[in-house]
Amino acid sequence: LANTLGLTPPMGWNSWNHFNCNVNETIIKDAADGLVSSGLAQLGYTYVNIDDCWAEKVRDKNGNLVARNTTFPSGIKALADYVHSRGLKLGIYSSAGFFTCSNTMPGSLGYEEQDAKTFASWGIDYLKYDNCYNDGTNPTARYPAMTRALMKAGRPIYYSLCEWGDMHPATWGFRVGNSWRTTGDISDNFDTMMNRADMNNMYADYARPGGWNDPDMLEVGNGGMTKDQYIIHFSLWAMVKSPLLLGCDLTNLTQETLEIIGNKEVIAINQDPLGVQAKKVREDAEIWAGPLSGYRFVALLVNRGTWSTNITAHLEDIGIPPKTKVQVRDLWEHKTLEETATMNLTASLGAYGSKMYLLTPLKEQSS
Ligand code: DGJ
Repeated sequence: LANTLGLTPPMGWNSWNHFNCNVNETIIKDAADGLVSSGLAQLGYTYVNIDDCWAEKVRDKNGNLVARNTTFPSGIKALADYVHSRGLKLGIYSSAGFFTCSNTMPGSLGYEEQDAKTFASWGIDYLKYDNCYNDGTNPTARYPAMTRALMKAGRPIYYSLCEWGDMHPATWGFRVGNSWRTTGDISDNFDTMMNRADMNNMYADYARPGGWNDPDMLEVGNGGMTKDQYIIHFSLWAMVKSPLLLGCDLTNLTQETLEIIGNKEVIAINQDPLGVQAKKVREDAEIWAGPLSGYRFVALLVNRGTWSTNITAHLEDIGIPPKTKVQVRDLWEHKTLEETATMNLTASLGAYGSKMYLLTPLKEQSS
């Protein structure tokens, strides 16, 4: 969507994957504080996004959404002020239906203009817009109603479509929002995560600056996968230009989690200005690859199984003409390999092993 937002994928945190419906203003403030104190805010994680369950079930007598009194007693405006005072941005959630998915609060269907104005008046910077309890009409009508409302609300608000991919939002979402879910919900296990990556891959060509495919939020740090599996998860989300929305408890970050989500070199792949989504280029000996700015490329060699294997990527698989001399940097070891590659790259990978490489063609030495 041409609203100047999301020129690179958004980065931040969302309450859903860890807290589900058990969310309150302390949790949101703690998340904001956690982003700052951990140094993650410095790395670009700036959105603090409230998901479902933040409002009273019934609108007030003027039809306005009201923050749930027991859990958000200070109101959303005060929370936005708090989050902004930390140099961060506040996101909120609603649904293109009569209720949100939890059925604990109203959705915005039929109230798009009123709710967009409310969000803008509170200082909201990001809207995730779900699809539950809708009236059965086409999402290609229900989602643009909110686009128009946001455009009139007088505040730039990143617009995240959460339609789950059923009506192929990649094919129309770029006119409507800044990103669109391509899949059902992720859960904190390796198979579901890889399935979301595979489904999202089908829509790779539709991603571009201002409009991204969204294979759902990150599970890194929630405990359901091993370190190696979370490295694959984070590497893939970064290179396919997914929004990088953390989903763990930021008040309780382990060193291991911080190492993964705080990997600057991998974050730089996600935020590369070229904005091209990497694709799966080989299925059996699995390789994902894509172009970056400055004639550079990124490649991920992945072992999805418990066996050990060698994976060889030919430069052509990655999109580089053979015989090009490329410098190879390992983005998890943080090391530039001594050997340059001219034909292929081989990695021996243990169970759930992966290698993420940044490939930079070397300039010809003039003689
Ligand atoms: C479904 C969405 O896909 C999830 O990400 C989350 O927002 C829940 N709804 C909230 O009810």
